Amino acid sequence: MKVDDLVDAFRDRFGAEPDVIARAPGRANLLGAHVDYSEGWVLPAAIDRAVWVVARLARGAETRLAALDLGEEAAFDAVEPAPPIAERGGPSSWVAYPQGLAWALGQRALQVPPIEAVFGGDLPVGAGVSSSAAVEMAFLVAWEHLAGFELDGIERAGIGRQVENEYVGVQSGIMDQFASVHGREGHALLLDCRSLEHEPIPTPEDLVFLVADTGVRRALASGTGFNDRKSECFRAADLLRPHLPGLSTLRDLEPADLDRLRHVLEPPLDRRARHVVTECRRVLDGAEALRQGDLHALGDLMAQSHRSSRDDYDVSIEELDVLQEAAAGAEGCYGARLTGAGFGGCVTAISSEAAADHVRQQTASAFEHRFGRRPEIHACRVGRGAGIVAREPNPRPFQETQS
Ligand code: GLA
Repeated sequence: MKVDDLVDAFRDRFGAEPDVIARAPGRANLLGAHVDYSEGWVLPAAIDRAVWVVARLARGAETRLAALDLGEEAAFDAVEPAPPIAERGGPSSWVAYPQGLAWALGQRALQVPPIEAVFGGDLPVGAGVSSSAAVEMAFLVAWEHLAGFELDGIERAGIGRQVENEYVGVQSGIMDQFASVHGREGHALLLDCRSLEHEPIPTPEDLVFLVADTGVRRALASGTGFNDRKSECFRAADLLRPHLPGLSTLRDLEPADLDRLRHVLEPPLDRRARHVVTECRRVLDGAEALRQGDLHALGDLMAQSHRSSRDDYDVSIEELDVLQEAAAGAEGCYGARLTGAGFGGCVTAISSEAAADHVRQQTASAFEHRFGRRPEIHACRVGRGAGIVAREPNPRPFQETQS
């Protein structure tokens, strides 16, 4: 899907030119699985795949949206949005993201005007590369532009997280939205999820992310252990606090304290805590490896992260394990791990440009051999963060700028 197709669809649908085009990327996470909501450290990068929102102020009172990739449309009242799905129940769909934004902005006394928009992109949906955060951030940037106010990146990410936590009902952390708004071309981001301090760390020019998709999808709001994992981490922190009064979340736990106090945590809380403690350490070590340009060391940490996500955090499935093992074992691959929430979705592998085809072939063949179907594998680069897409006259009608 190209942005030009979205503009054409907008013209067909609304019979007019759009006022704004906003773009927000997905992300790949090098290290830092399931530690953001325990206020740990993560190491994501925005990728060069994104969601675009092509929009104008609505002529009527309703917000009317068309999801081009899905062939679906929806209309709602953005001035008085419906209460959170988390409260009223019912299934969640893509509409919850723009609707939840209108609700979250309204809570901040930032009432948004009704808009008309077409959106779509080239991010695999529900695959662990944050398509939902990209939808949120692209709509937010478009809405800000049309309403005439501007939020900073931290506010944007916080609003996206609030939509997930309070409107949709997924107890996610802030990593995805943060990476989507703060991503920088040619850089990964070391993010402290407590202070929100972040350091862009350069990535090699020929770095390729191979995002290998299991094709298995699980909605995070229901039916998976995502919210259970967060509750387990908070319960473990509650049990440890009487012994470690300074501890707020598992991020504050030192490896030596975990060894000493393991008896306080009944299974599986001991393994959950071990994952968080070791993963935080891996992120800081991985950031240092990246600063040094040591991709082999970074890749080893990714493999350890996958094992810990599988054995201690229980968020892997066989399809992910097969992809991870095949990718990590292919010549020229630095490392691979499940990305995003797990329970399905994708494995992210990193390699040089020269090795990417070989790694892709090896990974696809191993998966096909085991499951009898060929997996989709997307080759992505590190991309830039969310912003407005400036429009220019032909022959190059669109040029992206960072906001
Ligand atoms: C999802 C959530 C993130 C993070 C990851 C796991 O992508 O949205 O906040 O918890 O899972 O690392």
